Amino acid sequence: MARHCEPIPEPIGLRPATSITLDCRHSSGRQEIMTTALVTGASRGIGLELARKLTARRTQVIATCREPSPELSSLDLLVESGVEMHNLESISSLGERLRGTPIDILIHNAGVLVADDFESLDLQDLRLQFEVNALGPLMLTRHLRSNLGRGSKVIIITSLMGSIADNGSGGFYGYRMSKAAVNMAGVSLARDLKATGVSVLLVHPGYVRTRMTGYNGTTEPSDSAKGILEQIDRLTLETSGRFVRMNGDELPW
Ligand SMILES: NC(=O)c1ccc[n+]([C@@H]2O[C@H](COP(=O)([O-])OP(=O)(O)OC[C@H]3O[C@@H](n4cnc5c(N)ncnc54)[C@H](OP(=O)(O)O)[C@@H]3O)[C@@H](O)[C@H]2O)c1
Repeated sequence: MARHCEPIPEPIGLRPATSITLDCRHSSGRQEIMTTALVTGASRGIGLELARKLTARRTQVIATCREPSPELSSLDLLVESGVEMHNLESISSLGERLRGTPIDILIHNAGVLVADDFESLDLQDLRLQFEVNALGPLMLTRHLRSNLGRGSKVIIITSLMGSIADNGSGGFYGYRMSKAAVNMAGVSLARDLKATGVSVLLVHPGYVRTRMTGYNGTTEPSDSAKGILEQIDRLTLETSGRFVRMNGDELPW
């Protein structure tokens, strides 16, 4: 069963009920250090599958969401609910609650797509996508920077739709622009965090059957999550800053 935490207005550090056990006793009596991963937007879709798969490989998962879904609540992980990626106060409050908790894998997965074209542009929708898809991952990384140590990995679930080179069909201004922006943020983060031993990867998850695509697509969320985790395992400081498909193929910017 998931353990639930509510957002709190004042920074009080990690409450005992939510503390992460990093140092576990194995059935053999041997001590085992667990990996801790934080996944944003884990209520459904790709984020839920990433959380499920990470939990299955004995990673301590901190799953953030706005509202926990029954599927997320049924998993053995720590749920941080009320986390709004368009809201900087919500992001900074999460950072305060997790102060002192080492994070080995930080996965920026939460995302929003509002279909638009040149005729239907809406400033509020453009801003929302920019905030959730681009500013949210950047600001959350900044608020969690002291949680990241040598060997930690920052993963940004981006999109091929953010590739300028691949844009052959136009439209989707808000989504494309926000994903191109987060790609740039990811490269700057890779450069800036290298000296601290933190690597960064930008991953396109495929065309995945989730609510975002109206459950259309060529890939199941669990297959996408499997591919993403393989790329996370392969990531090193030397390959930091790459933009890849979930099968590892390098993508054009
Ligand atoms: N599906 C695809 O084919 C595809 C392709 C390329 C890239 N991606 C990327 O993959 C990631 C996951 O997408 P998905 O396909 O799994 O979509 P999804 O099923 O629509 O899930 C999106 C997730 O993001 C969360 N989210 C949306 N707005 C949020 C906000 N303002 N604050 C906090 N959380 C918010 C949602 O939470 P709620 O439940 O609270 O709404 C949900 O957990 C996204 O970054 C997306 O851009 C997907």
